[in-house]
Amino acid sequence: MIRIDLSLATKIEKAVPSEKVKMLFAYMEEKGQSFYDESITQLQHALQCAHQATLCAVDASLVTSALLHDLGHFLLDERSDNHRFLSQDLNHEEIGSTYLQPFFPPSITEPIRLHVPAKRYLCTVDLAYYDSLSDASQRSFHVQGGAMSSKEKVDFEKLDYFEAATQLRIWDDCAKVQGAQVPDLEAYRDTVLQCLR
Ligand SMILES: [Fe+2]
Repeated sequence: MIRIDLSLATKIEKAVPSEKVKMLFAYMEEKGQSFYDESITQLQHALQCAHQATLCAVDASLVTSALLHDLGHFLLDERSDNHRFLSQDLNHEEIGSTYLQPFFPPSITEPIRLHVPAKRYLCTVDLAYYDSLSDASQRSFHVQGGAMSSKEKVDFEKLDYFEAATQLRIWDDCAKVQGAQVPDLEAYRDTVLQCLR
């Protein structure tokens, strides 16, 4: 049975915007200490992904998407010391996106929802992309559906957030560098605050 941690949504539902961000960051600090793979924590992965977005000088929405893209792993308690992690697909992208919808607009939640199909897309159009993925990401690729069919590929390209999702995915796959020094959560407080509904 899939269990989703509802504690964060319950807490932030009625909070004022600044408190929402405070609670969200406290949750990420707590849950993000578990490991994403053998080299970095889930929080470090989120921070590296957001940093990649800021280096590309994209808008606040996509930086926030990058920071929160794997929140679904936290909500599902998926981590590297859990044997099911990345070997069983719990649809963390759908869980995270749906969870955040009451608090953030589609410009943030849709790239999050699409960041797994975006990996399938990128591996389909560029065989070398698969080879560039981490071991963990190559493993999860297969349980997430593998390469897209021609129809899936064409349909994916027509989606409103196709470009944002594929861009997010590229940052995601670059955000697994052991020991990388990047800004901490505090650097994103104003960015996330301005993106709240
Ligand atoms: Fe990720």
